[in-house]
Amino acid sequence: MERERIHRRLLQWYRHRRRPLLWRQRSWTPYEVLVREVMLQQTQSSRVEQALPAFLQRFPTLQALAAAPLADVLQQWAGLGYYARARALWRCARLLLERYGATIPEDERLLRRLPGIGPYTSAALLVFAFGRQDVPLIDTNIRRVLLRVTGLAATPPAPAQLRELARAWIPTGASAEWHEALMDLGATICTARHPRCSECPIGQWCRSAHRVPPPPPRSARREPEFAGLPRRLWRGRLLRLLVERNPLPLKHAAELLFGPAPSVEQRRWLLELVAALERDGLLDRRNGILCLPNAPQAPRESIPSAGEPR
Ligand code: ADE
Repeated sequence: MERERIHRRLLQWYRHRRRPLLWRQRSWTPYEVLVREVMLQQTQSSRVEQALPAFLQRFPTLQALAAAPLADVLQQWAGLGYYARARALWRCARLLLERYGATIPEDERLLRRLPGIGPYTSAALLVFAFGRQDVPLIDTNIRRVLLRVTGLAATPPAPAQLRELARAWIPTGASAEWHEALMDLGATICTARHPRCSECPIGQWCRSAHRVPPPPPRSARREPEFAGLPRRLWRGRLLRLLVERNPLPLKHAAELLFGPAPSVEQRRWLLELVAALERDGLLDRRNGILCLPNAPQAPRESIPSAGEPR
């Protein structure tokens, strides 16, 4: 059957051509998989490969992460961006310790109730940490490859149907390898804008080969910008300064970000950044001084509802 040929060919290609990523060199504990997959949510694998060893050395176990002050976790997150993920991971570790005795439950419903764990991360844990064969893992690369192979790229099914389709495509007993093979194919050959169909190991069976529909236009919704840079970069800059110099007077933050004598607009932008980071629990402001959140004073948290931002 065609699907089995595709399985065989893609797995064979993966065994010979897979990217030599750090986490493919040994087996990983569920805690390590959790950290790695949260990092991989919004950061390129090359950056994650750089930051991950030091993070795991500083916080080798879930207990170590849960016991650390949030400021230390944010410090160790430097270079990865999107610091809200670091806070969510830290809260997640504390809840896992409190509720499950520092184990990670092998249960999608329970995983999804933890901060920082959305559909991707819960599926990644089930597939890569627990070896589950019946759970489909869908990220942007996997989605694109599956939709192209099946000829559905122009008319993508609803999420629940896509999940069923992805589940039906998992080859018996090879789920982890299959998902990593799809990720690699999507990252290196079946790319979004310029797929190299002539080099594709499964091109002969692909329903979209050489006639890939153009990708949808990039989202029209843009992040607010200041001085030509998106807000997320400014947030990262400010947090990095704070991590390096904690505590940091607001006045110094303005000068470090914008140079001497910052303008009214620059100071206003800084205050907006500070307010947003404060709302996200990533900094505290007291009497014109910014500081990293102080773990001992942080309130104990209860399990948040599902659907927490990833
Ligand atoms: N292997 C396991 N998870 C991965 C990911 N998110 N990206 C690339 N390779 C992976």
